[in-house]
Amino acid sequence: MIQFRPRRLRTTPAMRRLVREVEVRPSQLVLPMFVSDTPGDISSMPGVRRHGVDEIGGAAERAVAAGVGGIMLFGVPADSAKDEQGTQGWAEDGILQRGLRAVRGALGNDTVIMADTCLDEFTTHGHCGFLTPEGTVDNDATLAAYVSMAIAQVEAGAHVVSPSGMMDAQVEHIRAGLDGQGLHDIAILAYAAKYASAFYGPFREAVASSLQGDRRTYQQDPANRREGLREAELDLAEGADMVMVKPAGYYLDVLSDVAAASDVPVAAYQVSGEYAMIEAAAGQGWIDRRAAVTESVTAIVRAGADIVLTYWAEELATWLK
Ligand code: PBG
Repeated sequence: MIQFRPRRLRTTPAMRRLVREVEVRPSQLVLPMFVSDTPGDISSMPGVRRHGVDEIGGAAERAVAAGVGGIMLFGVPADSAKDEQGTQGWAEDGILQRGLRAVRGALGNDTVIMADTCLDEFTTHGHCGFLTPEGTVDNDATLAAYVSMAIAQVEAGAHVVSPSGMMDAQVEHIRAGLDGQGLHDIAILAYAAKYASAFYGPFREAVASSLQGDRRTYQQDPANRREGLREAELDLAEGADMVMVKPAGYYLDVLSDVAAASDVPVAAYQVSGEYAMIEAAAGQGWIDRRAAVTESVTAIVRAGADIVLTYWAEELATWLK
């Protein structure tokens, strides 16, 4: 005699729907978008575009119409606009600020507009901060630039700033800088646990990264789980309004730890390599694209993410409606 039969709860679609533990909501999806003076498609991210300033507002409107809960904007300057310090990152007419003004003008407060607060797209060496004469990334000197960037982004229309450079104390400094300008209501989404991942490869094509070397002195070692929790706890203590784990799919253990410890919303970033792999396999007919996309994001929510940044946000929101 078999006493326990878990299959009873899987007998029909109606039964499975009834007992489903998590469901992905369109409003918890955030679409990362690129704005650039050199618009074009990104070959390693089929379906993703670097939008010109004139197209970014319309593209953001389409995402919002599909039901996404927010957008995260990255700026891609022309090579000629890069310099050692990444000054276009906080210039009023820097590409990201122009993009933010276009998006805010198109959307107002209809969605949450987030900005990537990091220098790597704007520096000639491609690092997330200033370099010392010896060539290491200078944590403390970089913090003031992040504050300037955050303020410039808010003035251009961002509701949320999102420091992704993994400098120590970046959240504390940005919070103090915003508050000093009276910008108390601007939230900080902190990249709390961000790993030095091979899965950022396609993103670097997207932003035409000029990275020399690697980011292993500031992004985390993929082998370290406990350290992810420590990074998140520090960001919470520094005043982060939301914390993020990145990448997502290969770091579900870290995400689960952070979700258990956090008393603020937890985001996870399904990165460009995670996107590219599924697109590539689906393009070959090796996996069912829609099922794989849905499963990959469901797994991230199941692990504890309240918010998911994914390049499929618009399409997935359409499917879920
Ligand atoms: C750094 C940044 C990166 C990504 C987001 N912000 C690249 C990096 O750290 O090298 C990667 C996102 C992705 O791969 O989708 N500003």
